[in-house]
Amino acid sequence: MPICGCHDTLFFWFQKTLGATVVLACRSIEKGLETKTHILSKNRKAKVFVKHLDLCSFSSVVKFCDTLNLEFSEIYGLVNNAGVFYHPHGTTEDGFEVTLQTNYLGPFILTHHLLKLLKQSIHARVVNVVSDEHRRVSINQLIAITKNQADFKGHFVHYGASKLALVLFTRELARKLQNTNVIVNSVDPGNVETAIYRNFFPLSNPLLYALQWIIRVVVVKTPTEGCQTLLHALLTPNRTTGQYYSDCKLALSSPIAADERICREYYQLTLEVLSNWFTTESEC
Ligand SMILES: NC(=O)c1ccc[n+]([C@@H]2O[C@H](COP(=O)([O-])OP(=O)(O)OC[C@H]3O[C@@H](n4cnc5c(N)ncnc54)[C@H](OP(=O)(O)O)[C@@H]3O)[C@@H](O)[C@H]2O)c1
Repeated sequence: MPICGCHDTLFFWFQKTLGATVVLACRSIEKGLETKTHILSKNRKAKVFVKHLDLCSFSSVVKFCDTLNLEFSEIYGLVNNAGVFYHPHGTTEDGFEVTLQTNYLGPFILTHHLLKLLKQSIHARVVNVVSDEHRRVSINQLIAITKNQADFKGHFVHYGASKLALVLFTRELARKLQNTNVIVNSVDPGNVETAIYRNFFPLSNPLLYALQWIIRVVVVKTPTEGCQTLLHALLTPNRTTGQYYSDCKLALSSPIAADERICREYYQLTLEVLSNWFTTESEC
């Protein structure tokens, strides 16, 4: 099961699935190996592979997928977990804004390149890790950000846009795969105490963080709590597809994602902006 962005919240999954084969897709091999050691200390039966993946580089995404396609015969679960929030404004080597490429365009290409392996499993699941922030962005803002990468509109808008894009992608990919064994869902983990806030001053500043600490202990989920909805979407016998999970239950996403036409047109727009890296031959 490839997981993009290794993260200790996922250990719970490994403990439950003794003997699972897991691929940790990490931009830092060192962190990946630390995670592997930790997993093996909890579960000697797991087979854990650490592979390099940098979502900010489409060539890295394709290389990672090529390796998996050579080394594995099927995938049960693909978890598009890696993401950045409040990342300093910047452009990737492929010319896209960092947050949009990391959180959406990279996972878009990666998922398509792994579809063959997913289809080869008897049952397969794609879980896209999104955020409630997707509700704060309009479709016009999302389209503008997708078309005009150079025009920075603020950290919250770019983060929300990347997550709205992933929610729309979830719906459209689920529709395209409806007659296959692959189900696709979005998961909002909720507000979780992780390293995601490393660039967000009110939380990355130790003094400001200390002032909020007691409130955060009460209202913010621990990583173990935060990964429960992700695990639920991976393990539930319910084979609903194209949906949105929050707090281990099906929930409503932004009404924008309920519009099939918007999901289809945004998927087409994504293909257009990615036309130099991704051809329609790779489409499902
Ligand atoms: N925490 C929350 O409150 C919250 C709320 C809603 C949604 N989410 C979503 O949950 C997911 C997991 O985030 P988290 O909270 O666990 O944050 P995190 O601790 O910062 O984990 C994010 C992971 O993504 C990896 N990553 C970032 N850029 C990458 C790239 N270019 N290529 C490959 N991997 C990359 C990071 O790698 P490194 O370890 O090398 O940095 C890290 O392992 C994200 O999609 C986030 O948007 C989180």
